[in-house]
Amino acid sequence: MSRLSQTEGSFVVGAAPEGANDARAAARAVREMFTSIAPRYDLLNHVLSFNIDRLWWRRTARTFAHIFSEPDSRILDLCCGTGDMTFALRKQARNDRPCILGADFSHAMLQLARSKSLDKLAENGQPAAPRWIEADALCLPFPGQHFNLVTSAFGFRNLADYDAGLREIVRVLKPGGECGILDFSEPKGLMGHLYRIYFKQVLPRVGTMISGLRGPYAYLPDSVERFPEPQEMLDRMRRAGFREASWTPYTFGIAGLYRGKK
Ligand SMILES: C[S@@+](CC[C@H](N)C(=O)[O-])C[C@H]1O[C@@H](n2cnc3c(N)ncnc32)[C@H](O)[C@@H]1O
Repeated sequence: MSRLSQTEGSFVVGAAPEGANDARAAARAVREMFTSIAPRYDLLNHVLSFNIDRLWWRRTARTFAHIFSEPDSRILDLCCGTGDMTFALRKQARNDRPCILGADFSHAMLQLARSKSLDKLAENGQPAAPRWIEADALCLPFPGQHFNLVTSAFGFRNLADYDAGLREIVRVLKPGGECGILDFSEPKGLMGHLYRIYFKQVLPRVGTMISGLRGPYAYLPDSVERFPEPQEMLDRMRRAGFREASWTPYTFGIAGLYRGKK
């Protein structure tokens, strides 16, 4: 269940790392946390997810394949981190040439995305490398009605205000444009039980051991617990202006893809 924090008399639902008392402090703490784990982020991601994360990014990119061939399509991957979702979109687009942008507010994460991008360009000569931009998802430096598709993989959950994040996505999408939010969820039943043991006990210990930092890997299960259940998230999407809002569970509902159209 998500917890509510009260900011200036109104309820805000969003990420709240320990010690952060308002949305601004939460955003700062999230940025500092990702900056601190950036050098080990990819390694830890793949180890802790047993590489299933790669399948999830690919599956998400495939879902939106119909958008890549639209003429002059523009795609924004929000909270792109070190760029793996962005690269999956680029790869799925094949020879189509949509303009693909990855945006994140952690400079260190983006620097890694840029250097991976250069490596990929040298290796495969990808048709058009993604562009990278340092930006806050809650205040994007783009005009309204600009993108055909906005995605976010495992980033949206970290926003300090989920409703403001959804409204900002709606603002920058063209009418008819689509949104795909891939994030963790809490599976039910036996799988949920096993998942909770892994996510709350094993993962924080392994994460702390490899990264040498305790905070981020204690924050991860907390942030998933705080994140709205699918039904609540879908209601929030509809209220923000999305239609055809849906959620598709991935891998027993450990993760899932939220979709909506403007
Ligand atoms: C868990 S990582 C996900 C990275 C990548 N999308 C992936 O799938 O591996 C979350 C990312 O969201 C970014 N982030 C969190 N809040 C943000 C915000 N308000 N604006 C931009 N980026 C944000 C963090 O800096 C971090 O790089």
